[in-house]
Amino acid sequence: MQNQGRFLDTLRSRLSIAEIVGAKVKLTRKGREFVGLCPFHHEKTPSFTVSEEKEFYHCFGCGAHGDIVRFLMEAHNYTFIEAVKELSSRAGLSLPLEFSQGEIEPQEDLSPLQDAVQEASLWFQKNLFLSKYGETFHYIERRKLTRETLKKFSIGFAPEGRHNLQTHLKEKGFSEETLLKAGLLTQGEGSTTPYDRFRRRLMFPIHNTKGQVVAFGGRLLDKGEPKYLNSPETPLFSKGKLLYGYIFAKEKEKADPLIIVEGYMDVISLQQAGYKGAVAPLGTALTEDQILIAWRLSPEPILCFDGDAAGYKAAVRAAERVLPLLKPGYSLRFAFLPQGEDPDSLIQKGVSFQEILLQASSLIDTLWIFLTQGKTFKTPEQKTALQQQYTLRAQAIKNLEVQKSYLYAFKDLFYKNIVGKKEATMPAVALKIRNLNLSLIQERLLLAILLNHPNLLDETSDDLAFLEFKETRLHEMREAILRFYGKGIGHKQSLKDALLSEGFEREVSEVLSPQVLIHGAFAKISASYEEAREGWREIFNRMQHTLGGNDLKSARDHLADEMSVEAWHRLKMLKKSTFVQD
Ligand code: UTP
Ligand code: MN
Repeated sequence: MQNQGRFLDTLRSRLSIAEIVGAKVKLTRKGREFVGLCPFHHEKTPSFTVSEEKEFYHCFGCGAHGDIVRFLMEAHNYTFIEAVKELSSRAGLSLPLEFSQGEIEPQEDLSPLQDAVQEASLWFQKNLFLSKYGETFHYIERRKLTRETLKKFSIGFAPEGRHNLQTHLKEKGFSEETLLKAGLLTQGEGSTTPYDRFRRRLMFPIHNTKGQVVAFGGRLLDKGEPKYLNSPETPLFSKGKLLYGYIFAKEKEKADPLIIVEGYMDVISLQQAGYKGAVAPLGTALTEDQILIAWRLSPEPILCFDGDAAGYKAAVRAAERVLPLLKPGYSLRFAFLPQGEDPDSLIQKGVSFQEILLQASSLIDTLWIFLTQGKTFKTPEQKTALQQQYTLRAQAIKNLEVQKSYLYAFKDLFYKNIVGKKEATMPAVALKIRNLNLSLIQERLLLAILLNHPNLLDETSDDLAFLEFKETRLHEMREAILRFYGKGIGHKQSLKDALLSEGFEREVSEVLSPQVLIHGAFAKISASYEEAREGWREIFNRMQHTLGGNDLKSARDHLADEMSVEAWHRLKMLKKSTFVQD
């Protein structure tokens, strides 16, 4: 240990940190230091500094901090050992024994395993297009995989039979031991002859972060168990440490979201549909390592979950798992899919995934919902229990600044939504929001319901025409919705697309923002038609109700008569005029 530390000191003093960081970040000299745009968080003005003298980098924006070794690890994805190795070779030093021995790095030469897996992948790919395996064509067609996608993901086929791959690789000179160790062969109890692990499966190679194939996932062509079979843990592959699709997601634009989904096919479908940031864990819940890897590509990855109870549970688990890891600027977002669907099935149905991403909720909002949904906070005891619960969550955050912010944000939610209410029952709707008042939220919720459930317009268009929106922008959006409805939306394009094409981007994204949707699960795309209709009724009635005291009420009654007649006419006129135009 002593020697390790001394060796690292030598590296730091021999190498220029500005040069190493400068290979990745454009640095300009400012006094004794260098400054640049921080590679670890998004920023427009530089708060990232590098000091040759102190031999470290520091970001005043996100708190990133470290030396040359850390920089290679954080910015270039090296392991500790890889970083030390790389730096020693740059410094012209040979790696001391302490670094090459011990558990950190396996002693053995992994290249035969690596070669075997790579060779297997090539062989699987070649099989995919052999006419004797014509059945794969139907499968590929059914799953709508393009040639380009097959190639990009190096998708292959492992045929029926126990000795195909084995024979091929042995001919290439690989030993049985290597093939077993690489997870390509398997062996039953009592040391029977090893046989091919993957049979009659569509093969998805799994790459490590450097882009080498290290393992496979194989999907049965027909029904059966297990549907997916993965390589076992091998010296090359540790399933909790990689994300499927990472090497492609790495190429995404910075602004593209990193979308974490559940399955191989979800990643592939999303990427095929142009969502370059799609990745998936490998058949397990998201691990800490995977969160850290994801953060290299985006400070706020969006996790997609099934809209059912299991998905909800998985989201809670992920939310709790990330708490200790939070650091300034880095978090997760949570999106829920309609029940019974996954990203692949939604894309096949032509649903815009963008819409689902837009509705993702922040971690704090998601936690708050978990803690309050469906509960009543009437008594001091109930309120205190909630305080304890959120305090526990906040205390799980190791980074003290973020912890402080969470405590503050929770308290804020608590005082705004719970304290001072005679009885705070928290269905999804009742939450008030920090920066929007209730009536503004209600207006937005109604519009959100319609954007996500435009078929409700048959029942609600009259109500809609009656409503007075406080904000002109929303008022105009309402007019546009009625106009599109008159034209028979849904035939040529979705209501949302129609609004987007008329320049309502800002309004649409605001209406569908988590700040709004957190107040009404019924407004989300994942809600059923019935839930959406119930939600509409509840809010519509409430808005009528809150319109007035007594004087106001009679005035409104009068107005309402006029309005509804007028609105009714307006709607009819709109329908007419657009029919004439068509
Ligand atoms: P799903 O069962 O949701 O399948 O498993 P899927 O991704 O929708 O697959 P398709 O669309 O039917 O082809 C989700 C993920 O869980 C892991 C795999 O990583 C899979 O992609 N899994 C699933 C397994 O590892 N083994 C299994 O038997 C099933
Ligand atoms: Mn699927």
